[in-house]
Amino acid sequence: MSNTENWLADPLSLFDVRGKVAVVTGASGAFGSLAAKVLAGAGARLVLAAGNDKAMAETADACCALGAKVTTIASRPSTEADCNAIMDAALAAYDALDILVVGSGLNDPCPITEQSLERFETVMDGNLTSAWLLCRAFGQRVIPRSTKAKVVLMSSARGKLGHPAGYTAYCTSKAATDGLTRALGCEWGRHGITVNAIAPTVFRSPLTAWMFEDNEKANAVRAGFLARVPIGRLGEPEDLAGPLLFLCSRASDFHTGHTVYADGGYTAG
Ligand SMILES: NC(=O)c1ccc[n+]([C@@H]2O[C@H](COP(=O)([O-])OP(=O)(O)OC[C@H]3O[C@@H](n4cnc5c(N)ncnc54)[C@H](OP(=O)(O)O)[C@@H]3O)[C@@H](O)[C@H]2O)c1
Repeated sequence: MSNTENWLADPLSLFDVRGKVAVVTGASGAFGSLAAKVLAGAGARLVLAAGNDKAMAETADACCALGAKVTTIASRPSTEADCNAIMDAALAAYDALDILVVGSGLNDPCPITEQSLERFETVMDGNLTSAWLLCRAFGQRVIPRSTKAKVVLMSSARGKLGHPAGYTAYCTSKAATDGLTRALGCEWGRHGITVNAIAPTVFRSPLTAWMFEDNEKANAVRAGFLARVPIGRLGEPEDLAGPLLFLCSRASDFHTGHTVYADGGYTAG
């Protein structure tokens, strides 16, 4: 039974993540870095993980400047040992573990007839197997502590829609991420752990910067794409901040197994 009086006096408290311990992978990249900074600004304590420790250090500095406590671990979540070490780093630093945000991932577009099995597997491993391993390592530590925890995976509109430009590995990996989100949401509901995913289309990042430029190629690609986006623009980092805070906080306690499309309505049409 909820204490309605308390939260009605301050509904924004439902989004409060102050003091929560959040593991963010891919902290060297666009989404991971954004997620880390949003959670830092909101008062969470952080464990950042990435292979590129120079780029991760920039994220860590920005988070510290926002007043957050930050621990870093120079590791991609590629193996069981990596994923276990990332979670153990959180427990060693804070003796708590509340939030997992999987911001690591990749694309490697290539027509299927030219793509090696190795390249396919690299995309599947980086987007799916890694997320599965991270969730397992997280659950193995969080469930015995009876923590009401939050997991946010990174999907894509391409988990729902195909794409003609050599996206068989990427679309497959993201559709499977949606399946993992649903299945684990069901499996962990009884533990009070919610599992959801954010699915953007194109949001501004180093990888997508060319699509925001003003030149013939970018203008043509953007116009074709935006004709199918009801809100009529590409995504900005702050478009992901709201869904992220919702899914990391008590505000989403009754939401699990969902993929939340942060896509300007692209997948609704
Ligand atoms: N940008 C977009 O428009 C967009 C749209 C939809 C979905 N997404 C999804 O959002 C997630 C993050 O994308 P982003 O735009 O932030 O990309 P990004 O800037 O390239 O960052 C990706 C991060 O993933 C890590 N990474 C790269 N290859 C990896 C691998 N094989 N295994 C594990 N980690 C790996 C990198 O860290 P290290 O190299 O430091 O290890 C990097 O920090 C991805 O899952 C992507 O599919 C992005």
